[in-house]
Amino acid sequence: MRIELIQTPVQDIEADALVLLGFEGEQPTFEGPVGEWIKQVYASRDFSGKPFELAILHRPPGFRAARLALAGAGRRDKFNSAEMRKAIAAACRNLKNRGVRRAALAVDGHAPQEVKAAVEGALLGAWEPDQLKTDPKKEECRLEEALVAARGEGLQTAVEHGRIFGEAQNFARQLINLPANRLTPSVLADQARQVAEATSLRCDVLDRARMEQLGMGALLGVARGSDEPPALIVLSYEPEENRFPEQHLALVGKGVTFDSGGISIKPADGMEKMKYDMAGGAAVIAAMQAIARLKPKVRITGLVPAAENMLGGRAQRPGDIVTTLSGKTVEVINTDAEGRLLLIDTFTYALRLGCTHLVDAATLTGAIVVALGHVRAGAFTNNEDFYSRLEEAANSEGERIWRMPLDEDYKEYLRTPFADLPNIGGRWGGAVTAAYFLKEFTEDRPWVHLDIAGVAWLDEAKPFLAKGPSGFCVRTFINLAMNWG
Ligand code: BES
Ligand code: MN
Ligand code: ZN
Repeated sequence: MRIELIQTPVQDIEADALVLLGFEGEQPTFEGPVGEWIKQVYASRDFSGKPFELAILHRPPGFRAARLALAGAGRRDKFNSAEMRKAIAAACRNLKNRGVRRAALAVDGHAPQEVKAAVEGALLGAWEPDQLKTDPKKEECRLEEALVAARGEGLQTAVEHGRIFGEAQNFARQLINLPANRLTPSVLADQARQVAEATSLRCDVLDRARMEQLGMGALLGVARGSDEPPALIVLSYEPEENRFPEQHLALVGKGVTFDSGGISIKPADGMEKMKYDMAGGAAVIAAMQAIARLKPKVRITGLVPAAENMLGGRAQRPGDIVTTLSGKTVEVINTDAEGRLLLIDTFTYALRLGCTHLVDAATLTGAIVVALGHVRAGAFTNNEDFYSRLEEAANSEGERIWRMPLDEDYKEYLRTPFADLPNIGGRWGGAVTAAYFLKEFTEDRPWVHLDIAGVAWLDEAKPFLAKGPSGFCVRTFINLAMNWG
């Protein structure tokens, strides 16, 4: 999508639609017939300014745009960049389905943070999960251009950042949406290589032989059942100007391209959705792309353990005991608890690379969906200070997380007489025991774990986002990198 900041007076903007925000109980004021129309629309209760309402006037007198689209933005006192993102996304989603290809967003007077969010909204709202449909009709329903009409300091940067953040998030959604026959661990690795080639990142992909050499028994165990070889994708960003030479951030994302459960097989109902089990990994690759473009002043390495969790004559069995890269042994009680097995070997590897801070995103447990539904991701940590920084990043990007506990007492849930740790806890607190299991491999380095199982995929479309992959945590990752220190 082309995105451009313009200073043209709104009346003179040429576009298929000019989007104007209408707040609840506060009408935008205009002279002449358009002003009259706005008054009437509010009076008629066709439109009251509630979020996602849209009222359209064709050929607005005195305007060059073909349509005026009054977009509900909610109450002014509750308005912020998250509301802006959603309001613009909903308007763009709606308008593109009506054939609008060039939309102008009248956002003059808004702070740079809100202008950035408006650009993200246009990109996110326009994205559809239809890349593999052959129906040519969809070509008529593409938003091709967003003109951002605003004046003020810092807006050029805001628009540029919005574009980079929004494009990265859509890139993640694109990868997540690809089914497992088209996105194997090797294809995901190729995607990461392409990102590296197009930017200044370095890309190293560890193959099975390398993992065997190193002793990544946990990661290898998960991959055993599949004919698709695993890959540990490592993307590294080295700042030209390093302001934090003592620090090195690792972004780790679970990259299970398909999770059948393995021998502890999942029920057939809904199993097709398990192509999104690499949403954390996609978020990391996409965030690294944005990081390479935005050039924060700290070293960052993105790590994505990619594998397919399948059944077969060579698949790992319940009861198998694997030796992890850390040296600790793990009894695989349930082969469906595979994400944590991939992640722990990746943590150890990241720490050996010298990473000082770990953040991971993983569609790790059904239990987090039971606890928090599809609204917030669960967040776990071993370090309060680092958690506050990540929380701040998530809050400013409007990505909602919720702090979950990790008391020492949960350790009792992870006991087995046969190995150092079992890969699952008991019946209760499944999201917490999964996180606790991860914590045992962080070597007490500052770490935050995001369980995104409930938020990485939308089962139903929202007015502002299509059904399917959300791209959750891409923006939080980029923000954390950009506001490091
Ligand atoms: N990928 C799943 C978790 C998941 C569930 C993601 C639903 C998205 C939606 C994970 O690998 C898994 O299977 N977890 C098990 C763990 C259990 C065996 C302890 C689960 O949550 O059922
Ligand atoms: Mn699983
Ligand atoms: Zn999984």
